[in-house]
Amino acid sequence: MKVGIIGSGSVARALGAGLVELGHQVKISSRNTSAPALEKWQQEVGSQGSVGAFSDAAQFGEIVIVATKGTAAEKALELAGPAAFSGKTVIDVTNPLTMNSDKQLVLKELPDGSCGETVQRVLADAKVVKAFNTVNSAHMFRPQFPGGVPDMFFCGNDADAKATVAELLKAFGWNPVDIGKIDAARLLEPVSMLGIRLAMNSGNWNYVFRVVYQDK
Ligand SMILES: NC(=O)c1ccc[n+]([C@@H]2O[C@H](COP(=O)([O-])OP(=O)(O)OC[C@H]3O[C@@H](n4cnc5c(N)ncnc54)[C@H](OP(=O)(O)O)[C@@H]3O)[C@@H](O)[C@H]2O)c1
Repeated sequence: MKVGIIGSGSVARALGAGLVELGHQVKISSRNTSAPALEKWQQEVGSQGSVGAFSDAAQFGEIVIVATKGTAAEKALELAGPAAFSGKTVIDVTNPLTMNSDKQLVLKELPDGSCGETVQRVLADAKVVKAFNTVNSAHMFRPQFPGGVPDMFFCGNDADAKATVAELLKAFGWNPVDIGKIDAARLLEPVSMLGIRLAMNSGNWNYVFRVVYQDK
C-alpha cells in the first residue's frame, strides 16, 4: 500500500519507518525537503521511503496521515490541496498543543472543538480517523510494555475507514479501542495532554494507556 504522510517531525518519521518495515511504500513531506533529518530518515528506511512536498504526499497516498503541528494542520492541508484527499482514509495524529502565558504546555481551544474535527471539516470528502495521538512517537511502532499488548483509542465517522485503521493498529502492535465518531477527538486530544503531564511529573515518557475491565 502507498501511504503519504503530511509532516516531517518525529511522528512522521516513526510512523513512516514502521510502515516501511511492514512492507508499505511511504512518502513523508515538508516545506523544506532538503532538511538533514529527512535525508537521514531516507537513508535509514531505504528505497521504499521518499520525501516530498505536502502536496506530493497527499497525492501519493492511498491512505494519508496528518502529522503536522496541530495548530498548523489547517494551513498544512491547504498547502497539500484538499482535493487530493477525496475519498481516502486519513489518519489524524495531531494535538493542538500550545504554550499559555505562564509558559505551560496546554491544549488550544479550537472553533471546531478538536484537531480531528478541523481535519474532517477541511477534508470534507475524506474519511478521517483519529489515532496514535495519545502515545509518544518513540513507542508508536511495536510498543514493548509489561502486561502485553497496550490499547490504542481511535475514532472517526466512517466504519470502513475505521476497520482499515484498526487493522493497521494491530499490525503496529496495538489493541484498537473504538471510541466513536470523530467528535470523540475532543476526548482523545486531552488524553495526550494527560500523558504529557504524567510524563513531566514522573520524568518517564515511556507510558501507554490500557483499559482494565472487571468481568460483567
Ligand atoms: N511527538 C510526539 O511524540 C507526538 C505524539 C503523539 C502526537 N503528536 C502530535 O503529532 C503531530 C506531529 O508531532 P511532531 O512532534 O512529529 O512534529 P511537530 O513539531 O509538532 O510538527 C512538525 C510538522 O508540522 C509542520 N508545521 C509546523 N508549522 C507549520 C506551519 N505554520 N504550516 C505548515 N506546516 C507546519 C512542519 O512542517 P515542515 O516540515 O515544513 O517544517 C512539520 O512537518 C503534532 O500535532 C503533535 O501534537 C506528537
